[in-house]
Amino acid sequence: MIQRAGADVIAMAGKGGTGKTTLTALLIKYLVNSNMTPVLAVDADANANLNELLGLEVDVTLGEIRDKMKTETPQGMTKNEFMEIHINQAVIEAKGFDLLVMGQPEGPGCYCMANSILAQVMEKLSRNYRYLLVDNEAGMEHLSRLNLRTIHTLFVVSDPSSRGVLTAARIADLTKALQVEVGKKVLIVNRVPEPVPQALDEHVKRAVEQTDLVFGGYVSASDEVFQKEMAQESLLSLPDDSPVVKQAFGIFSRFLKG
Ligand SMILES: Nc1ncnc2c1ncn2[C@@H]1O[C@H](COP(=O)(O)OP(=O)(O)O)[C@@H](O)[C@H]1O
Ligand SMILES: [Mg+2]
Repeated sequence: MIQRAGADVIAMAGKGGTGKTTLTALLIKYLVNSNMTPVLAVDADANANLNELLGLEVDVTLGEIRDKMKTETPQGMTKNEFMEIHINQAVIEAKGFDLLVMGQPEGPGCYCMANSILAQVMEKLSRNYRYLLVDNEAGMEHLSRLNLRTIHTLFVVSDPSSRGVLTAARIADLTKALQVEVGKKVLIVNRVPEPVPQALDEHVKRAVEQTDLVFGGYVSASDEVFQKEMAQESLLSLPDDSPVVKQAFGIFSRFLKG
């Protein structure tokens, strides 16, 4: 058996509303369909909603466990042990993948120790998975908290605008301050009109020239995504031959090898 050092880490970045969570759900669908499992998806947005796009209920978040650990660790149990037990209870099991929700960031006070324990326990947990997939918020606060050493693939999601693409380039640069080694940075421009305006192509070309981003591709504005959103249905139920699924899968298959 091949010994794996740990899961391959894939993270989503981009400003709010660009489609990070939508693409995370489609990426989970891709990995599960391609048998690139097991997958641990981590919702690292304080306003967690990935679970809704996957049709899953959340019981307890990592933030809640971390807060409990500070005050409720029983005598005779280390904080690591407490965290490990509770983290396993927080893992939501689904078909081919698991989900963990980070929840609200800490309030005032010192959380260095709690966060360092959280990072250790997460590191250990992720060894059970082939992929660790992190849906971030724009600030990437939780990402630094997880203390990841490597992000193998970072997808930076942009809206289809000149300033959006510039922001994506800036976010790609921001990761340099995170003290995490990033393998590939892949730009996805989401919700594009069809046909794709030539001016948008040019903005993308410029952003790619000026940064270490590579261009992953365009994902169209999709009526099917909109309908699912309105009906509060899981994006996992989108048909495999729907245009948005095909476009997203096309991008993922070029950057993630099974
Ligand atoms: N390709 C798309 N076509 C249609 N609607 C989309 C598409 N991508 C995202 N959306 C919609 O845009 C909104 C924001 O998407 P979301 O994935 O929550 O963004 P983020 O996680 O970056 O804040 C949601 O209502 C979502 O349904
Ligand atoms: Mg989101």
